Amino acid sequence: MSRPRISLATALGTLLLVLAACGVPARTEAEGATTLRLALNQSEDHPSFVALENLAERVSARTQGRWNIDVYPNENLGAQQEALQLTSDGSIDLAVVSGPQLENLNEDFVVFNLPNVFDSIEHQMEVITDPAVVGELYSSLQDRNLTVLGGFTQGARNVYSVHGPVTTPADLAGQKIRVQESAVHAEMLDLMGGSATPMAYGEVYTALQSGVLDGAENNEVSYVTQKHYEVAGDYSRTEHLIGIDYLVANTGRMGRMSPADRAAFDQEWAAAIAEFTALWRSATEEATAEARSQGVRFHEVDRGAFRAALAPLTERALTTERAREVYAKTRAAAP
Ligand code: GCU
Repeated sequence: MSRPRISLATALGTLLLVLAACGVPARTEAEGATTLRLALNQSEDHPSFVALENLAERVSARTQGRWNIDVYPNENLGAQQEALQLTSDGSIDLAVVSGPQLENLNEDFVVFNLPNVFDSIEHQMEVITDPAVVGELYSSLQDRNLTVLGGFTQGARNVYSVHGPVTTPADLAGQKIRVQESAVHAEMLDLMGGSATPMAYGEVYTALQSGVLDGAENNEVSYVTQKHYEVAGDYSRTEHLIGIDYLVANTGRMGRMSPADRAAFDQEWAAAIAEFTALWRSATEEATAEARSQGVRFHEVDRGAFRAALAPLTERALTTERAREVYAKTRAAAP
């Protein structure tokens, strides 16, 4: 009886499957594969992590394993300020950072961090993917070896407090509210009636719990994935701004991709942005439902009063010609 014959293609296919199952990469560093390290401050159940993991998979497949991305969640590579510095140094390759972090490197980025600058997520996404608006801005950090690749929405940010609802600016009197590390956001929160306390994301839970903070402001997804609802159960829909998270890359490292691999990366990144925006909507609904089931109280607020209190900020924050130009284009694109 003759032995069953296995074709070379089948044998190779099986070997690749076995290697993949063992977690052995298709290519090693010596064979020209590169693994990019990406810093993220969110947990694994946040839609950024999900969209970036999917991006990593597609980029590996499209470049036949020449380019791989390892996503490190939970500030494992450092909080955003540090991760940005490490990306600039080339110690790591990619980082997701919130808008205010870039405002600290180039004040023109302030435009997209302002309250009431975007009317909706659709408006925001249209602006931040339009090269005629953001082209120069995204390449303005080359002296730091940083390139901004684009961004994910953070949705609307709202105030939450350990002391009950915040429905008017007067409710925030005397309350220490955490803001991101940005002078403009500190001023924003003060104008909203509270006392701004800038702090890194990962420190907020403990600070709320220990009484160092009275509250914070963030979207529903962060409020739930960071478990802040456990210590601050009143969530007030101030919707004072729609935030943005940027994916920032080390320019030198990205420059090592062949044009074809870079084109594949760019296509997959554009797909990741679209995937993220779709995920965002369901994640927000799920987070809201989860918070309700945990006993969180949601409150409608006097949005007009907050808007009026914040009105002077825009004029004061737009200090450069470029920022004023980007602001004008952004508002012109409003529906
Ligand atoms: C959101 C945003 C993060 C940011 C965080 C914060 O979760 O997606 O990038 O760091 O807010 O308030 O610090």
